[in-house]
Amino acid sequence: MTSLALYNLKGGVGKTAATVNLAYLAAADGMKTLVWDLDPQGAASFYFHTETAVKNATRKIFTEELDIQEAAHGSEFENLWVIPADLSARHADIILDEAKQSKKRLRNLLAGLKSYDVIFLDCPPGISLLHENIFHAADWVLMPNIPTTLSIRSYDTILEYFKDNDLHTEKIKCFFSMVDHRKNLHHETVQQFYKNNVFFKNYIPYLSDVEKMGVHQQPLFEYANSSYAAQCYRDLWTEIKRTCL
Ligand SMILES: Nc1ncnc2c1ncn2[C@@H]1O[C@H](COP(=O)(O)OP(=O)(O)OP(=O)(O)O)[C@@H](O)[C@H]1O
Ligand SMILES: [Mg+2]
Repeated sequence: MTSLALYNLKGGVGKTAATVNLAYLAAADGMKTLVWDLDPQGAASFYFHTETAVKNATRKIFTEELDIQEAAHGSEFENLWVIPADLSARHADIILDEAKQSKKRLRNLLAGLKSYDVIFLDCPPGISLLHENIFHAADWVLMPNIPTTLSIRSYDTILEYFKDNDLHTEKIKCFFSMVDHRKNLHHETVQQFYKNNVFFKNYIPYLSDVEKMGVHQQPLFEYANSSYAAQCYRDLWTEIKRTCL
C-alpha cells in the first residue's frame, strides 16, 4: 500500500481536483484505490457522490469508535472506495490532541488499510496537528503549487517545517497547478523551478474543463475524456506512478 497526501498550506490550489482525478486514474489502472476525504468541506466526497453513513463519522474514526475499514464506501467506479468527510472533521485537531501518540494516530489508522494498493488523502489547507499526522503517515506529500510568489513561499515554509521537525523532506514532491502561460509570472516561475527536481515535469494548466468538475459533479474523465486537461492529468499520473509507486 502506498499513501499519497494531496496537500498545500494554501487553499484553492487544486488539491481536491488532483485527488479526484488521480484516484480515478489509479482505479482505472486496476489498483484497489481509496480516497480519504480529511477536509470538513467534503469536496472530494461531493465529487464521488458519497456521504457518511454514521453521524460524526470522522470523529469516530479517530477515536476508533468506528472501524476505519467499515467507514470506506464503494463508489460508482470499479476499484474505487471513499471515506467521506463530514463536519466532525473540523474537530480533528482536538481529538488528536487528546489521543495517545497524538502525532502518529493517522499512521496507525492507515496501517489498518493495507488491503488497498493506493490511498489518496485529500487534505484541508493549513498546518496543525492533523497536518503533522499527515506528514508522518503519508508515504508521499504531493503539493500542487500555483506558480506565484506566495504559493512557492508556502512550499519553502513547509520544507523548513519538515527540517525543524525531523520529517523526511524527500517525501515532498510538487507539481504546478492552474498554470496560465499567458501570464509572464507563471511562465517564468515554472521555468525557474524546473531546475529543481522537487517538481514533477508534468503540470496542470488552468483549464475550464477542470473547473467544470463542480457542474458535472464527476471526475474530469467522465465528461471530457479526450480533452487536453484529461491528457495533462494522465501524464502527471504516469510520472507519479514512476516516482512514487
Ligand atoms: N487546473 C484548473 N483549472 C481551472 N480551474 C481549476 C483547476 N484546478 C482546480 N480548479 C478549480 O479551482 C477551485 C479550487 O480547486 P480545488 O477545490 O481542487 O482546490 P483545493 O486546493 O482543494 O481547495 P481547498 O483548499 O479549498 O480544499 C475549484 O473550483 C476547482 O474547480
Ligand atoms: Mg480541497
